[in-house]
Parts: sequence; C-alpha cells; structure tokens
Amino acid sequence: MRICLFSSKTYDRDSFLAANGSSDWHLQFHEARLTRDSVALATGNDVVCAFINDDLSAAVLEQLAAGGTRLIALRSAGYNHVDLAAAQRLGLPVVRVPAYSPHAVAEHAVALVLALNRRIHRAFNRTREGDFSLHGLTGFDLHGKTVGVVGGGKIGQVFARIMHGFGCQVLIYDPFPLTGLGELGARQASLEEVIASSDILSLHCPLTDDSYHLIDAARLAQMKRGAMLINTGRGALVDAPVLIKALKSGQLGYLGLDVYEEESELFFEDHSDLPLQDDTLARLLSFPNVIVTAHQAFLTHEALDAIARTTLDNIAAWLAGQPSNEVKAGA
Ligand code: NAI
Repeated sequence: MRICLFSSKTYDRDSFLAANGSSDWHLQFHEARLTRDSVALATGNDVVCAFINDDLSAAVLEQLAAGGTRLIALRSAGYNHVDLAAAQRLGLPVVRVPAYSPHAVAEHAVALVLALNRRIHRAFNRTREGDFSLHGLTGFDLHGKTVGVVGGGKIGQVFARIMHGFGCQVLIYDPFPLTGLGELGARQASLEEVIASSDILSLHCPLTDDSYHLIDAARLAQMKRGAMLINTGRGALVDAPVLIKALKSGQLGYLGLDVYEEESELFFEDHSDLPLQDDTLARLLSFPNVIVTAHQAFLTHEALDAIARTTLDNIAAWLAGQPSNEVKAGA
C-alpha cells in the first residue's frame, strides 16, 4: 500500500510514522500543497492523504484518478474543499477524520478569548521591552457574561462547557434540535437572539452554502457594541473585509481568528521575509484588539495522534471493503 501525504509537516510525519509502526505500508511525505502543479507527485500511490488547504477540485481529482489513486483520505473533519460529486463520478471514495479532539479546537478558542480580553499579546511584548505600565490593558470579568455559540456539535459543546465553567451564560444556535444542553449550562436559541445577546460570539459550525458569510455587515451591526468575535470554524463563515469597518468604528471590540477565507496561499508556511500581499489580512493584523493564529486550533499532540490513527484505520477499513467515515455528495 502506497500512501502519499500532501501538506505534511514534521509534526504530521512524526505522528504518522508512530501510528504506522512496523506496518509495511509505504508513506511518502510531501510538504507541498496538493495543486494542479504538484499532483504528479501522487502518481503510483494508492491513497492520497490531504489536508484542508489542498486542492481537491474536479481537475485535480481527475489527474489523481488517472495517476492510479484509488482513495482520498482526508486528515481533517471538514470536507468543504473536496468536489464530492466529481470524486463520486471518478469512483474515488473520500474518507475523513470526523472527530480527533474537540478539546483541542475548543480550548484554542478559549485561549483566544482570554488573550484578547486580558491583552496577553500586548503585555507579552511590553514587559519584554521593559515597559511595565498597565494602561490600555483593562479587561472584563468573564463571570456573568453571555457567550454565543454558533454550531452546537462536538467542538461547540466542549467550548460551551468550558465557558459555563467561567460562570458565563451560554446560548447556542444550531439548525437542529440539541439535547443535553442543561448539563452544559447552555440553552438553544435563535441565531438572531444569539447574535444580539452575546458579549462573546464563537463560530463552530461547518462551512456550507447556508453558513457562507454567516457573519456579514448586517449581522455585525446586530451584535452588541464592543462584543468579541471568535472564528475557529472556517474562514468563509465571516466576510473578512467588513470586519475592518466594524473594528474601526468600535462596533466590534475584539476579533480572534484561527481561520481566514483566503488562508490557503499563506497559512502553514513562513512568509516573514516577503511583503504581505493580502491587504485585508494586513489591515486586520494592524489592530491591537485582533489576534490571528494560522489554523493551529487542531495542533495538539493528542489531536495529531488521533488524526494519524483514524486515517490509517480508515485506509485499512477501505482495503477490507468496509469503508468507514466516508463522505458522499449530497449527504
Ligand atoms: P460537528 O459536526 O460535531 O458539529 C457541527 C454542528 O454545526 C452540528 O451540530 C450542526 O448541526 C451545526 N450546523 C450545521 N450547519 C449550521 C449552520 N448553518 N449554523 C449553525 N450551526 C450549523 O462538527 P465539529 O467537530 O464540532 O466541528 C465544527 C467545525 O469546526 C468543522 O466543520 C470545521 O469547519 C471546524 N474545525 C476547525 C478546526 C481548526 O483547526 N480550526 C479543526 C477542526 C474542525
């Protein structure tokens, strides 16, 4: 079995080699993203193992199928970047890792909340420069505040439980009825109520046609003035350019992004010696009340181990003729 991993970094190599153990499966690691230009690297591999910013459009899938690929194994939960209809037409099953560590992502969202509120990023820089002043660092007690969660699935529920632990009142919007929210100290509410009532709004839903630009200019205007927005879901849940006006006017008080609609050309790579070409991102990074992390919410040892183990299990199940964690068009 030959498996070709795109967008694979040293941490992926470590976790996959450990999970592969003494198996005779051959793992080929490429740092390159899967694109029309790099697709030839997969030729002769049975399985292509891809991550979130790899190109799995119809054109690339056609080239993969022609090169002998028989299975697409995603290392992610999200599959919005895969042309599932094309994969089905080409007879290429697509499997994913539906859950690896909801704690990893939820805890990173909490890290963004705490850092933004207590200005940890600013304090870190100040004290290293010998500036021990406190002006501009005033935060607020989380206790008693209202936290809105959009998407009450695995990650949203872990986030809700943690925020309840801080003494927050938690409201969750999800298009489907949720059960067991009492245990999380949360209540299900309409999207309108969640947006209008929240001091902190955190996005944990998948990117779909319905959720594309869920947070746009109109919804930003409906938020409490000075509220905090956290997005660890997918970049395109938010219309990024309209955030700038909301931040400049003070309508949006704090912004924490782990994902960005145009991240695929930037995130996971070191561009520090090049001029940043994305003017929206450059402007967002200039605000003192904005923190951007480069899609690192998943990056814990536990999550990496689980991703590697589930991916190899998915491949074994497919080989045995009993695919698990398969995603299909229209499902
Ligand atoms: P999940 O499938 O357990 O939960 C998603 C929830 O969102 C479900 O309850 C679903 O009913 C709800 N939902 C669907 N459409 C919605 C809409 N339009 N508005 C509000 N809610 C909606 O998924 P999980 O594991 O909680 O992951 C959530 C998302 O987090 C993923 O789809 C992925 O995009 C993102 N993610 C980000 C990571 C990162 O490193 N930043 C890592 C892993 C996931």
